[in-house]
Amino acid sequence: MKKITIAIDGYSSTGKSTVAKQLADWLEYIYVDTGAMYRALTLYSMENSLIADGFFDKESLIKKLDDIEIAFTRNTDSGKAEVTLNGKNVEKHIRTLEVSTFVSPIATVSEVRAKLVEQQQKMGASKGIVMDGRDIGTVVFPDAELKIFMTASAEERAKRRYQELLDRGDTVNYKAVLANVVERDHIDTTRADSPLVQADDAIVIDNTHTNVSDQFHTILQLAKDRIAGR
Ligand code: DC
Repeated sequence: MKKITIAIDGYSSTGKSTVAKQLADWLEYIYVDTGAMYRALTLYSMENSLIADGFFDKESLIKKLDDIEIAFTRNTDSGKAEVTLNGKNVEKHIRTLEVSTFVSPIATVSEVRAKLVEQQQKMGASKGIVMDGRDIGTVVFPDAELKIFMTASAEERAKRRYQELLDRGDTVNYKAVLANVVERDHIDTTRADSPLVQADDAIVIDNTHTNVSDQFHTILQLAKDRIAGR
């Protein structure tokens, strides 16, 4: 069967990775969460004192980029791909509110983007891939056969992220999570290099009021149509 490239972009906490994973499982495609790659680089910066409150040593991070290896490994229990930083599985450390606070400024750095985009393009060179992020349909795979742009209200997205953090056992405050969602939207959509924008040929899915299963079936049908050349 013909293999295609599926690009899923959109705002934070719109459930991009949930639907991307479901699609990849169903189609037996590779799934890549590009946000995890930017998050792993952010963790590296935090662990190496390159970023802290009100301070970001961009030049040192750029100099160190060649020494930083970001990859994915399969969790043998869950079967899920998890991100590694210089060989160490960091999946459990990249979803904190602290990493979420610093990741958007890191993702504005063109040298960071160039490194990660090149790696992402290599991962998708043979198609049969579902990739989610902010610039997949516009920059990484502008020729993707199916492009989805996901959105939902900031309040609904903050509610989801807040619940996710509570479920992980983190101590969080809803207002701080909402502020982070709004701040990240602002930085992601206004940065100079590859801002979050809807590709002209993307299909917009607003899931403020849609359930996960209906949404999956809508997108799966679109994928089947594209595979069939429709
Ligand atoms: O999808 P996420 O929330 O895990 O992404 C974290 C941050 O990474 C997000 O605020 C913006 C950045 N990002 C990006 O700039 N480009 C991508 N392709 C993916 C994520």
